[in-house]
Amino acid sequence: MKPNIGISEKQLEHTSSVLSTVLSNEMTLYVKTRKSHWNVTGESFMELHKLFEGQYKQLEEAIDEVAERIGKLGQKTIGTMHEFSKLTTIKESPGVYASSKDMIKELLKDHETIIVQLRKDIEHCTEKTKDAGTADFLTGLMEQHETTAWVLRRYLN
Ligand SMILES: [Fe+2]
Repeated sequence: MKPNIGISEKQLEHTSSVLSTVLSNEMTLYVKTRKSHWNVTGESFMELHKLFEGQYKQLEEAIDEVAERIGKLGQKTIGTMHEFSKLTTIKESPGVYASSKDMIKELLKDHETIIVQLRKDIEHCTEKTKDAGTADFLTGLMEQHETTAWVLRRYLN
């Protein structure tokens, strides 16, 4: 049964496609953060190993919330690596095993890419699709990324 929540079917489909890209970016960053957790080396090994673990666990929760938000809008949620890799704007680096500093730099860049995109998505949901619920949800998600970006940035100063 379709949701009757004051947003047209066309707009619900549009918001869902925005959320599918958000989901794909979160999935890619989740995998990249796990790779960093597995491969980090150096003097701060255990600290960074645990830091990245906390971050991928937070991303895992965010992924579930984004996926279920698509369902709340009455749409199907993509769930294949094939679709995630087609939609994501976050780049992976196969075969690259960076130093801990470069890992942090790359993860920071990815969080900032997501923050910039979410800011645009929030504006879109507020002004175009009038979807206050999704705008509020994405604002909370953006704030989480801002916190993680702040933490990562502190390691580089
Ligand atoms: Fe582990």
